[in-house]
Amino acid sequence: MRSLRTGLSLAALVTGAALLFAAPAAHAADTPLRDLAAAKGKVVGTAVTGSKLTGSYGDIAGAQFGSLTPGNAMKWGTVEPTQGSFNWTEADQIVAFAQAHNQQVRGHTLVWHSQNPSWLTNGTWTSAQLSSLLQNHISTEVGRYKGEIAAWDVVNEPFNEDGTYRPTLWYNGLGANYIAQALTWAHAADPAAKLYINDYNVEGVNAKSTALYDLVKSLKTAGVPIDGVGLQAHLILGQVPAGLQQNIQRFADLGVDVAITELDVRMALPADSAELAQQKADFKSVVAACAAVTRCVNITVWGFTDSDSWVPGTFPGYGAATPYDENYVPKPAYYGIAEALGGTQSTAGCAATYSVTSQWNTGFTGQVTIACTGTALSSWNASWTYGAGQQITQAWNAVCTQSGAAVTCTNASYNGTVPDGGSVTFGFNASWSGSNPVPVVTLG
Ligand code: G3I
Repeated sequence: MRSLRTGLSLAALVTGAALLFAAPAAHAADTPLRDLAAAKGKVVGTAVTGSKLTGSYGDIAGAQFGSLTPGNAMKWGTVEPTQGSFNWTEADQIVAFAQAHNQQVRGHTLVWHSQNPSWLTNGTWTSAQLSSLLQNHISTEVGRYKGEIAAWDVVNEPFNEDGTYRPTLWYNGLGANYIAQALTWAHAADPAAKLYINDYNVEGVNAKSTALYDLVKSLKTAGVPIDGVGLQAHLILGQVPAGLQQNIQRFADLGVDVAITELDVRMALPADSAELAQQKADFKSVVAACAAVTRCVNITVWGFTDSDSWVPGTFPGYGAATPYDENYVPKPAYYGIAEALGGTQSTAGCAATYSVTSQWNTGFTGQVTIACTGTALSSWNASWTYGAGQQITQAWNAVCTQSGAAVTCTNASYNGTVPDGGSVTFGFNASWSGSNPVPVVTLG
């Protein structure tokens, strides 16, 4: 897989979609993020949804990232929805995909207060029973993937904002020692896996991150197996904490690795070009802070496309938090990551992305997104040649004409402008039979 991918441009990587760049010539992402990161001794990763790992989503996940984190597939509620009855389907699928693409897997997560099965949260347990349940869970899951997981988020989100312990099922039932026990059990099940504690709002130096720091220090002193801390980094536009690099460094100085585990930068919708530029700066400064500290080993984004992000569902009216838009077009944030990893590619250009959004026996709906970075358009036309007799029957947000196999679509009166950092999408219905290959779109 890697040899196939190496040297290909992003345009060639997006199957199920076709890209072509208009003047000024763009050289988007000639080097995939994973290779830029590797050259700096880092790993760049993404959270993924197993069922989506096909088509453009799978191609980008495989080509651009060196590490995958299951967004939900390894959580207790997913893997053991009924006590004693396990479902590893999605977790197995993600691990297999990662192995096929020479990627690491970050296991997420073994001990958390959220996304637990209801049989567990609704049960009444003695401390001994709870301890035994947790040990079995950790041994079973870590043991199943022994040798296949680079790092586990063993304990997730153990702290309140003020640095006191969060009163969870685990803390209330077992006391703070549940953390040391969980790490010890995980280490027994897979001695090679790096074991992390992961939390949010611990990116800067504050009461919560200091509590995490103190915990890691005491675990190290006690000889508990702790290898790293995960700084989730669910950030708000323009609010990268000033002390991020200093905070990463103080954990590194304790003798543990650091990972940025769930990076995203949310903003109020709709996003405008100034906000997308700010988002680029935010992604760039987070990645640069990690790149500056030797023991900061991994930067993982929490979903790489805005079509697969937790943000809109949790913060209504907010979104656009990831490096690719909903149509898999890299946003300025993507180039921010690339630049912080030493990428030198020009980011100026406009790209047209063709995709089939639905298809039935005789027809299909398609769309083309024209996106610009570092430049802008005041009018546009997109043209392509159908290779298998497809015939446009209707278009919207563009005026499309077809002569034989040749299609040309010109902007409507109201959407000729594609601003720097912005995009325009038009759609169409068409007929097909036999096959429906994706054409290469030329932007004029
Ligand atoms: O699978 C069901 C689906 O069947 C149902 O139709 C749908 C209706 O709401 O829900 C689906 O489940 C959702 C699940 O994600 C899978 O998409 C849950 O409602 C939704 O609550 C769940 O959200 C996840 C969230 O954790 C839960 O707290 C996000 O995807 C996941 O990205 C997010 O990840 C967490 C990290 O684990 C820890 N750090 C914070 C981060 C963001 O919340």
